[in-house]
Amino acid sequence: MTQFDFNKATSREGTYSVQYDGTEALFGATGLEPFWIADMDIETPEVIRDAIKRRLDNGIFGYTMWQNERFYEPIKQWWKTRFNISLNEDDIHYAASVLYTVGEVMRQTTNEGDGVILMTPSYNSFPNLIKGNDRKIVETPLIYDESKKEYFLNTEEFTNLCAREDVTLYIHCNPHNPTGKVWSKEELSEIKKICQENNVYLISDEIHMDFVRPKEDFVSMVSLLEENDSVLVTTGLGKSFNLASIPHSYFITKDRNITADITTAMGSRYNVNTASSLALAAIEAAYTECGEWIDQLNDHVAGNFQLISDYIDEHLSEYLSFDIPKATYLGWISFEKSGLDASEVHRALVEVGGIAVSPGKLYLDDENKHFRFNVASSRTRIKDGLDRIRKTFEHLSK
Ligand SMILES: Cc1ncc(COP(=O)(O)O)c(C=O)c1O
Repeated sequence: MTQFDFNKATSREGTYSVQYDGTEALFGATGLEPFWIADMDIETPEVIRDAIKRRLDNGIFGYTMWQNERFYEPIKQWWKTRFNISLNEDDIHYAASVLYTVGEVMRQTTNEGDGVILMTPSYNSFPNLIKGNDRKIVETPLIYDESKKEYFLNTEEFTNLCAREDVTLYIHCNPHNPTGKVWSKEELSEIKKICQENNVYLISDEIHMDFVRPKEDFVSMVSLLEENDSVLVTTGLGKSFNLASIPHSYFITKDRNITADITTAMGSRYNVNTASSLALAAIEAAYTECGEWIDQLNDHVAGNFQLISDYIDEHLSEYLSFDIPKATYLGWISFEKSGLDASEVHRALVEVGGIAVSPGKLYLDDENKHFRFNVASSRTRIKDGLDRIRKTFEHLSK
């Protein structure tokens, strides 16, 4: 069996990487060691790069169709072998990106001014999309259960919000960014039932689905889909195989109306209805040949989380609390117990630590006493990031 090396040094020099070169806007500084935006300092698997190169060698990159077996079959195979879900071709559709799909479903299923429910903390692009489409953010804060060390939905509040006349859409995130929560079948069934009883459209964003440890613990909303449900699941390979700059996604739904509406919008309103030929080559190679790679990568990510947890126990336990997440490659770390001022900590992380980790307020964490630490890197980089965090807190406590 091939052993993959996730500790290899990588470089983004000259690639205009947002992770490295785009810190000014959010952190007010450049030259930071970055662990913020969700892409990886880990190379895309060689078989995917080879597939893209073979496609490049053809030399023609004209308009490309995705409605063919080299798109459907790898997706069906991946979902069957990894999640034991049998997909129908009629339910699978290519779309320009996950966030395009979320925005398009919002435009199709809600009116301007409508309320869209988000569980908070929430992935930062959801509030942006809601505001950008002139809809209203309706927050339901997740409840942290100290004994279980897990976040839970406040079902009563969620039900009341869904019952509101002005609320027409709920955006679910599974696994959850930024907390790393994996939702159980019971939780998903309940969410779906509440949405259906209140005519609230349900989007499930499952882009982090390949980072669940163990993979058998992932339950997709797809497994609950019935004909004509007002539910759409959107996902892609951007996170799993580090392909964010090769835009693509696909969605799975049994709602024929939304499928028709999105198809029309992509064709006539935005003209984004042909596929990226490079993305198609990547999807085929990834979903037929990269199961072992992603399993080993998850082991590496788990090892990085363990390193963080051990390091915090040893050096930072008076300042930080951290639960190793079951999913994603994003650590959600609290500094509430340090008693330090939130904005002072975030400023010091940049100015003293020279590190870019995402501040909690980005995720509608009002107290702003968390930061999100992206661990998809070599162990050496994670250790360096931890040393920078330690330097920051030791400086602040002087
Ligand atoms: C939950 C979630 N959805 C969507 C995206 C972005 O997907 P895309 O680039 O396909 O729009 C991200 C990226 O961080 C994400 O975390």
